[in-house]
Amino acid sequence: MSTTLPQNPSPITPEAWPPRGRRVLLVGPNPAMDRIHTVEVLAPGSVHRSTSISARAGGKSSIVGRTLRRLGVEVSMFGFLGGPIATPLIREFEELGIEDKHTKISEDTRVTTVVVELSSGRSTVLNEPGPLVSKSELSRFEDTLFHNIRAGDLIVCTGSLPRGVGDDCYGRISRMATERGAFTAIDASGEPLSMALKSAPWCVKCNRQEFTQALAITEDVDDAKLIELMREQTKRGSSIVIVTMGGSDFLAATQHGVWRIHVPQIDVVNATGSGDTFFGSFIAAIWRGDDLEGALRDATAGGVVNALQLEAGLQVGASLEPYRSQVWFGTAMLEGLRR
Ligand SMILES: Nc1ncnc2c1ncn2[C@@H]1O[C@H](COP(=O)(O)OP(=O)(O)OP(=O)(O)O)[C@@H](O)[C@H]1O
Ligand SMILES: [Mg+2]
Repeated sequence: MSTTLPQNPSPITPEAWPPRGRRVLLVGPNPAMDRIHTVEVLAPGSVHRSTSISARAGGKSSIVGRTLRRLGVEVSMFGFLGGPIATPLIREFEELGIEDKHTKISEDTRVTTVVVELSSGRSTVLNEPGPLVSKSELSRFEDTLFHNIRAGDLIVCTGSLPRGVGDDCYGRISRMATERGAFTAIDASGEPLSMALKSAPWCVKCNRQEFTQALAITEDVDDAKLIELMREQTKRGSSIVIVTMGGSDFLAATQHGVWRIHVPQIDVVNATGSGDTFFGSFIAAIWRGDDLEGALRDATAGGVVNALQLEAGLQVGASLEPYRSQVWFGTAMLEGLRR
C-alpha cells in the first residue's frame, strides 16, 4: 500500500502542539512501592528466605516520572500518598528531582510484592487493592491540580485509579485542561480510559487491547477497523491517538492521517513498563521542542531500551540514540493530503 502513497510519509505535527519547555504535571493517582524479593525456588505453602530484597517507587506514574527526569524534564507529580510507604516514596521522588504535589490521605499506599524465582526467571506478583480515597481527599487533590494548571502546560495522566476516585477522573482533568489552554496526554485502561476518550484529550496513548476494550469492542479487530476507530477519536477532537502493539509496528493517528511506525527488532530482556517508558520519552521530546516525528522516534526508542533491561523505566545514562535512527514511518492513511 505504501508504494502508491507519497514519497515522504513523515508524520505531520498537529496544529495543537505544546510550546517548548512548559511545565509537565504528572498525574498518577495510584502509586505503589514495588518490593522485589528473589528466591531460588518458589513453593506455594512453604516458608521462604529471600536471597535479596529491593524496594523502589512503582506504579505507572513512577516509571514515567523516572523516565522524564532521566531525560532532563522538570516534573511535578500529583496523586495520593498515605501511610508508612509515603515517606520512602516522597524521598525517592525528591532524589529524582520531582516536585512532590501528592495529596496526603489517611489510608495506606499499596505495596506491590514481586517474587522472582531465580531457578526459572519467573515472576509472581501480589497486587494490593490500594487505599480508599475519601471525598474530601479527592476534592483536595482536584483543587491542588486544577489550581496548578496553566495555558500551555502538559498534563500527563497515567495508570489506574484508587477506590473512591470516580472513573471520570481523567475526563474531568482533560476537560479542565482544555478550558485553560493546557494539553492532556492520557495512558489508561478500562472505564477511566473509556470516559477519558469522550472528553477528547489532546493525546491518547494505549495498547491495542486497552483501546478496543475502552470502546466496548470485545472481538479482535483487524488493522482497517482499528484505523477507523482511531480516526473516529481524532474526529471527536483528540489531536494524536497512539496505539502500540508490543514489539510489532504501531499506529499513530492525527487529523492529517494515520502512520504506521516500525519498531526496531531486539532480543527482549523484560518488556514490562515499555509502554510507560515509551510515553515518558514521547513527552520528554515534546518538552524539548521536538515535532511529532521526533517525539515518535524517541518514544519508540524509549520502549525498546526499556525492553532490553530488567528494571522498568529509563535508567541513568541510558541513551535512545542508537534506536532513534532505526525507527521508520509508513503511511496507513492520509487525510486528503498531496505532498
Ligand atoms: N518486544 C518488544 N521489542 C521491541 N520493542 C518493544 C517490545 N515491546 C514493547 N516495545 C516498545 O515499547 C512500546 C510500547 O509497548 P507495549 O505495546 O507493550 O506497551 P504497553 O502494553 O502499554 O506496556 P506496559 O503497560 O507494560 O508498559 C512499543 O511500541 C515498542 O516501542
Ligand atoms: Mg501500558
